[in-house]
Amino acid sequence: MSARPDTGPAASDGRPKTTVLTLQEQRRKGEPISMLTAYDYPTAQAADESGIDVLLVGDSLAMVVLGHANTLSVTMEEMLHHARAVSRGARRALLVGDLPFMSYQADVAEAVRNAGRYLKDGGMDAVKLEGGRAYADTVRAIVRAGMPVQGHIGLTPQSVNLLGGFRVQGRTAAAARALLDDALALEDAGCFSIVLESVPYRVAAYITERLAIPTIGIGAGAGTSGQVLVVHDIAGLYDRLAPKFTKRYANLGAALREAITAYRDDVTARRFPAREHAYAIPEEEWAAFVATAGAPAALSSREATAGPRG
Ligand code: KIV
Repeated sequence: MSARPDTGPAASDGRPKTTVLTLQEQRRKGEPISMLTAYDYPTAQAADESGIDVLLVGDSLAMVVLGHANTLSVTMEEMLHHARAVSRGARRALLVGDLPFMSYQADVAEAVRNAGRYLKDGGMDAVKLEGGRAYADTVRAIVRAGMPVQGHIGLTPQSVNLLGGFRVQGRTAAAARALLDDALALEDAGCFSIVLESVPYRVAAYITERLAIPTIGIGAGAGTSGQVLVVHDIAGLYDRLAPKFTKRYANLGAALREAITAYRDDVTARRFPAREHAYAIPEEEWAAFVATAGAPAALSSREATAGPRG
């Protein structure tokens, strides 16, 4: 059974559930598509209520949530765990589950099965995978099984070792041509959309023009059909990498440290908990309890001042 039994109802603002057809329509009308990563329930809820069109449970969670140096080590089980949390928080956004490293590369049948797990057990609406022409058959097989696939080309972080680092792709004529051929092959295989990561803006805009499906850029300039960023980057919650293409909209990392320090200071100074944070016992129950249990030698002054009010 799906982990998301209430898929389908309109969100509280009355807007209907976003589907792959909605994105096609946005592309046709020239309306920019907003996409953001999410890895947990509260973030999904906030992003959904903010009107984000597509939520991606990205394998970037390996880095920004789990603290790994790259995305290679995150497992399908870990991704599903977070996908289920996101699916409980979002009602309107199209939900995309990122197929992690080695969940689809070795075997097409395994790719179809893992994509199926995202839709069946993870509450996702679609899946994303990295790679171009080499994965056209994999995309075709997943789509044939009834599941929408988003492609991802350019900088594909699962190939970081092959690429020699997190580097811009498509900077030579030959590399740009290879990206175009990848994009056309993925479209032909049935992708509903393609993420273009760290690609020169003119190349990204050109590929967007050549495709009928929407492109979503990250570090690919303003000429794509939409944009995606990692939520920890825009919120200031991750500072190990600061790619040129991202934009920080808040410093929640600093706010969190401030709140935690204030809490720690309150505890050590005995300012927390105050009376309003404590539960009372009715006076007669307290008296009966003390009568049966035996009164302590003296209630400490701390208990007298910070104890519960009746
Ligand atoms: O995992 C991720 O966050 C991604 C986006 C950067 C597109 O794949």
